[in-house]
Amino acid sequence: MPGHVNPLLLNFPDHFETARLLLRAPRPGDGRVVNEAIQESVEHLRPWMPWVHPVPSVTDTETHSRRMAAKFITREDLALYLFRKSDGLFVGGSGLHRIDWSVPRFEIGYWVRASLEGQGYVTEAVNGITRFAFEVLGAQRVEIRCDSRNTRSAAVARRAGYTLEGCLRHDDWSPDGTLRDTLVFARIRGDEK
Ligand SMILES: CC(C)(COP(=O)(O)OP(=O)(O)OC[C@H]1O[C@@H](n2cnc3c(N)ncnc32)[C@H](O)[C@@H]1OP(=O)(O)O)[C@@H](O)C(=O)NCCC(=O)NCCS
Repeated sequence: MPGHVNPLLLNFPDHFETARLLLRAPRPGDGRVVNEAIQESVEHLRPWMPWVHPVPSVTDTETHSRRMAAKFITREDLALYLFRKSDGLFVGGSGLHRIDWSVPRFEIGYWVRASLEGQGYVTEAVNGITRFAFEVLGAQRVEIRCDSRNTRSAAVARRAGYTLEGCLRHDDWSPDGTLRDTLVFARIRGDEK
């Protein structure tokens, strides 16, 4: 049933856990550890993430973290930082973006620090965030979009049980100045594991 929700009045936690990860909203003070992970990962982020052009400074990342902390509270965007539970290491960034609360629908984005790629942390986070979206936020639809050339990103969507719905040709520009086609994956209420 279509709703007229005031997202500002929705109550839900700003953190939750999966087997190996703590996922939580950004906070003031996160800039240093997040930026350290970005500096380590510039080469693997560069082809796909517009926000590493130019590479952000610690101050830029702190500013971004504070802006995203504010937007989490206003429910405009639900960024989540991922930390490894065993030692507190910052793992990467994810969250629910491009929100339409009237459906509700969300899009999950993600990146992992280069040294932790290939260990399943992102699939684990996406599974947890998907569950959070459907079970806690009442999502009807969750999307994952990626450049059609980003095979590692598409593999995460597939591993997390998302269905490829289509390819938006010449949907956007890549950071390298070439036109990109965008794959759209989604899960809808009823698909959830
Ligand atoms: C896209 C990106 C997030 C994918 O990260 P990833 O590390 O490949 O994804 P996962 O963390 O789910 O790890 C999957 C790999 O770990 C392996 N793995 C190990 N343990 C695992 C576990 N418990 N569960 C699932 N997979 C596991 C999988 O077999 C897979 O290995 P493979 O790639 O050799 O087949 C990463 O490449 C990245 O940050 N890229 C740059 C930013 C980017 O492109 N973001 C997406 C924009 S749309």
